[in-house]
Amino acid sequence: MSDTAAATAQDVPALEVRALTVKFAGLTALDAVDFTVAPGTVHAVIGPNGAGKSTCFNVLSGVYRATSGSVRFGAHELTGEPPHRIAARGIARTFQNLALPPRATVADSLLLGRHRLTRTGFVAAGLRLPQAVREEARHRERVREIAAFVGIEEHLAKPAGSLPYGLQKLAELARALCMEPRLLLLDEPVAGMTADERRRTAAVIAGVRDSLGISIVLVEHDMGMVMRLADSVTVLDFGKRIADGTPAAVQNDPAVVRAYLGQSEESA
Ligand SMILES: Nc1ncnc2c1ncn2[C@@H]1O[C@H](COP(=O)(O)OP(=O)(O)O)[C@@H](O)[C@H]1O
Ligand SMILES: [Mg+2]
Repeated sequence: MSDTAAATAQDVPALEVRALTVKFAGLTALDAVDFTVAPGTVHAVIGPNGAGKSTCFNVLSGVYRATSGSVRFGAHELTGEPPHRIAARGIARTFQNLALPPRATVADSLLLGRHRLTRTGFVAAGLRLPQAVREEARHRERVREIAAFVGIEEHLAKPAGSLPYGLQKLAELARALCMEPRLLLLDEPVAGMTADERRRTAAVIAGVRDSLGISIVLVEHDMGMVMRLADSVTVLDFGKRIADGTPAAVQNDPAVVRAYLGQSEESA
């Protein structure tokens, strides 16, 4: 990435998940789960269908409330905070399904990602007040840098909905980066992608960690992706943590092998 875009994330603290429990009417979706995301690392949360991955993601982003337990980001307790407060702490997320407005241009969608960073606000910008016009120009420049970093710069003027699926997913990743996050939450970022799009997305995610120093929580089904990218992995099965460690260690863990075999028997 270019030097100008290398605004390395400042003061990225650890994310500490402790005894996190989520119950839905009798079903325990997460059962006293612990893990730590070290600053500037990619931490994968994996597991068979129904393991509790999306539930975990939704608690981290404030969409679901924890029944008990804690999620700390540095000095801040996140459980109980609504999504906009969590976003304001520098935690950005992408969605498993595409969430960009299809008719808006990619550039405008990314600019919306910078909303929390704008001082004059979009009303002032709409009125074309001079200070707001200058600020908008600055934000548009940063949007262009981030789009270049993700590799979608040439598509900025197009409607997001006109792009192929893989590029739309990359545009969504760019939108999250436009919030200048310290922690990025990615829910199955390569689901539905071609092999080529997967490789490209993996390279972008590695670049986010290596060039920007941002921490990443990756909820992922694709084992190959996890093995290539993750620094550490937490494996869930039926809401319980069954393994935690480096990708190589968890891959050979008998409990993990059993959990994934059980799944392939089910779906066979
Ligand atoms: N909003 C909800 N209401 C009731 N049950 C839910 C809800 N969300 C998830 N669950 C249940 O919690 C368990 C874990 O689901 P989920 O977190 O989506 O798993 P994964 O993402 O690993 O496939 C499943 O049994 C699922 O049916
Ligand atoms: Mg899920």
